[in-house]
Amino acid sequence: MKKLLILLVAIAMVSATAMAVVAQDKGPAVIKIPAKMGEVTFQHANHQGRIADCTVCHHQGPGTACRSCHGVKPEAPKAKKAFHTRCKGCHKKQNGPTKCKQCHTGPKS
Ligand code: HEC
Ligand code: HEC
Ligand code: HEC
Ligand code: HEC
Repeated sequence: MKKLLILLVAIAMVSATAMAVVAQDKGPAVIKIPAKMGEVTFQHANHQGRIADCTVCHHQGPGTACRSCHGVKPEAPKAKKAFHTRCKGCHKKQNGPTKCKQCHTGPKS
């Protein structure tokens, strides 16, 4: 009886973990990133559809906001450098937009 109970608890724990994975927070579908050069409208959901591995961008783990470190913590490169390196770096390889006005489309902040 005790063994059965332990087994049931173990099953419950495994399925709870599985559900947490399914319900992973994918963040907003569209993210407006303010910039002096002009706001960048970032199609987060579309990019997630193209790029299977979240850590290509979220190198500190999925769901960690870039701007909680970049531009805040001294050990992290400035936001401009981090975003330009990651975003433009891939665009150069995969024919995404690389011209300033293709990304900085919104109002200047
Ligand atoms: C092409 C790059 C890229 C990919 C791929 C990507 N993200 Fe993001 N994600 C971002 C950017 C940029 C932000 C906005 C961060 C900021 O404002 O500092 C963000 C924000 C988020 C946020 C909100 C964080 C917060 O606290 O504001 C979550 C959650 C998130 N992403 C989850 C995911 C998951 C899960 C995946 C994979 C399925 C994923 N992202 C793939 C670039 C990406
Ligand atoms: C918890 C803090 C933290 C978060 C969150 C974070 N970064 Fe970083 N990032 C760092 C630190 C620290 C470095 C420098 C050391 C290293 O390369 O790991 C770095 C380095 C980088 C680099 C390399 C820069 C260069 O000069 O080559 C890029 C690109 C980058 N981050 C982009 C991003 C993007 C895009 C996001 C959000 C999707 C993000 N980072 C989220 C802390 C963070
Ligand atoms: C790993 C590759 C990759 C990364 C990283 C990436 N992109 Fe893209 N992005 C693409 C590709 C490929 C396209 C072109 C898609 C098309 O033309 O259908 C694109 C298109 C875009 C577009 C045009 C509108 C759209 O969504 O189709 C914008 C704006 C954009 N990306 C912004 C960003 C920003 C901002 C970042 C960094 C936070 C980023 N991208 C990171 C691959 C990437
Ligand atoms: C792939 C999209 C993309 C392209 C192309 C791009 N940028 Fe950016 N840029 C960003 C993102 C995202 C940020 C991050 C905004 C922030 O949080 O500081 C940024 C930040 C900046 C910043 C500093 C932050 C601010 O407030 O303005 C400057 C200056 C800048 N970009 C200038 C340029 C210039 C000049 C070009 C063309 C040579 C260019 N960018 C091309 C996406 C892009």
